[in-house]
Amino acid sequence: MRIDIITVLPELLTSPFEASILKRAIDKGHVEIHLHNLRDYTTNNYKTVDDYQFGGGAGMVMMIEPIDKCISGLKAERSYDEVIYMTPDGETLNQGIANQLSLKRNLIILCGHYKGVDQRVRDIFVTKEISIGDYVLSGGELGAAVLCDSIIRLIPGVLNDETSALTDSFQDDLLAPPVYTRPSDYNGHKVPEILLSGNFPKIEKWREEQAYKRTKERRPDLLDE
Ligand code: ADE
Repeated sequence: MRIDIITVLPELLTSPFEASILKRAIDKGHVEIHLHNLRDYTTNNYKTVDDYQFGGGAGMVMMIEPIDKCISGLKAERSYDEVIYMTPDGETLNQGIANQLSLKRNLIILCGHYKGVDQRVRDIFVTKEISIGDYVLSGGELGAAVLCDSIIRLIPGVLNDETSALTDSFQDDLLAPPVYTRPSDYNGHKVPEILLSGNFPKIEKWREEQAYKRTKERRPDLLDE
């Protein structure tokens, strides 16, 4: 997979890909991340990417021209499955969206700033709009990092057995069950007996029950789906 991220703050998007699973995914060739500084696509001396909004009102709007130059340049090189715009009024990210996007080959992610992008960018170029939750961030970069993490860990071969995505929360519309490690008794706080029993069918059944119980208590909406 190849992900091209268009941003005015590329420095916000370097460290997420320099550690742990995302770094390993890049090193093993499962994914390529290309950061594009939108200011490199401006034609004015000040490298401005935003302007006042027509009709008046507070807040600047990201201009169409540099975004067009960047996206059109990328599309001239290869075809893209989706052009994703990070915005609080997009579809809320969930495991299903991450699963679908993990099967794509080439993605563009556009990070919004200020009041957002000129609506014509959304009308002409954007094929999918994603929010990472009902709150407003200063820009789309941190949302893009969250989105990339959720997608990349699902690409076949990225996770090994120990980190397998199959037992993650949400993977079957259920939250994950509680987990424990050594010591089995910490100042009188004991690990459930069943997990020490070695009876794996029973352990599996216990985990399923716990996952269901936790989901019912915390996220009953997932069971309705
Ligand atoms: N940009 C600003 N807020 C955002 C959010 N909640 N999700 C995605 N992008 C954003």
